[in-house]
Amino acid sequence: MSGEMISVRLEINNPRVRGEIENILSSTAGFHLQASDSSEACDLLILEIGEDLKQEFQLIRSLQSTGAAKAIFLTSPRLEPNVLIEALRAGAKEFFSQPIKGEEVRNALLKFKEGRMEIPSKTEKKKRGKIIHLMGSKGGVGVTTLAVNLAASLAQLDPSQSVALVDMNLAFGEIPIFLDIKSSFDWAELVKNASRVDSTFLKSILFKHPSRVSVLPSPAGLDGEVQATPEIIRKLLGVMQETFDFTVIDGGQSIDDLSLKILQMADQVMLVAILNLPCLTNIKRLLWTFQRMGFPAKEKVKIIVNRYQKNSMISLKEAEQSINHEIFRQIPNDFHTTMAAINQGKILSQVDGHSEIQKGIRDLAVSLLQRGRPEKEKTGFWSKIAR
Ligand SMILES: Nc1ncnc2c1ncn2[C@@H]1O[C@H](COP(=O)(O)OP(=O)(O)OP(=O)(O)O)[C@@H](O)[C@H]1O
Ligand SMILES: [Mg+2]
Repeated sequence: MSGEMISVRLEINNPRVRGEIENILSSTAGFHLQASDSSEACDLLILEIGEDLKQEFQLIRSLQSTGAAKAIFLTSPRLEPNVLIEALRAGAKEFFSQPIKGEEVRNALLKFKEGRMEIPSKTEKKKRGKIIHLMGSKGGVGVTTLAVNLAASLAQLDPSQSVALVDMNLAFGEIPIFLDIKSSFDWAELVKNASRVDSTFLKSILFKHPSRVSVLPSPAGLDGEVQATPEIIRKLLGVMQETFDFTVIDGGQSIDDLSLKILQMADQVMLVAILNLPCLTNIKRLLWTFQRMGFPAKEKVKIIVNRYQKNSMISLKEAEQSINHEIFRQIPNDFHTTMAAINQGKILSQVDGHSEIQKGIRDLAVSLLQRGRPEKEKTGFWSKIAR
């Protein structure tokens, strides 16, 4: 018999019920009836109960736990609620009352077959989440502010998406201050446990912020033990991609061997600048460096102007001309709301969800959520929230 066939065993005393189910099985593609004296495990056992329920439910449990039957359908002439409840508790997938209804049995078999066909594709297909790397063109331009609130906006806008936030400022990371995190597992401990890092481990150790963002902060102080290597970064980000739909990285402004690894793996690099000459000069240098290195590709690099003011001495157009790259988004200047958020350890939406700065960051999050969605979805719900 082909390995694709679902093996079924019948343990049914009533000859009429047994005959009817045999007929249905033989006329439904994909099922193979096991011989009654077979000792092999089966994919599906259809079992008649009703004589000694206690013993029968005990049997069902042990058949499932030993793997002798991967799934069980029950049938019984008794239709008392307690029988149904017990059947459910014992892990039966379906219950057919008697006399059986052919249509009901056939539909249950087809549903079972469909479910089995879906399982391999679900488990085989690993998640490949997006890595969003935020980098400053200078110190103090707002990378942490944007990373924290972009991660929170992603999580809040779409509850189906899992989001992580990683602080790559290993020496002076400020995410614990921004999110009022008193103590949690941090980078130092992750480096010490690098060999154990997998999806389950990561999910269990990251700090769960109420916004639904899972956070990996940097250590509160340095003891010389944090020696992350590009290999550790590669492994960590690989596991992050399998675990989260979005991994937002507060990358500070350094270019070292660790950030190069992130730049190599990132799906999108957001270069944060403010509209002044030193920042624009640095952006030009960074873009030139990326071009020389061959990564990240130009289309992955998005320039974000932070602290934008309409009466700025340098216009957006002039800035674009000077760096020869499009400015993707501008986030308005709002010192009051950002400071209130930092001082209270809150995200911007908690301080003022209607502020222009929060709207700007939310707009950035929408642009990320829209990418990769089918065109028809972009015109529906997502287009409505994209301002
Ligand atoms: N859009 C904004 N409008 C006004 N102030 C802002 C804005 N974004 C950030 N700030 C303020 O700028 C200061 C620096 O912000 P932040 O710490 O996020 O920058 P950073 O790039 O992470 O700095 P560092 O290089 O020290 O890590 C903070 O006081 C913050 O409140
Ligand atoms: Mg910072």
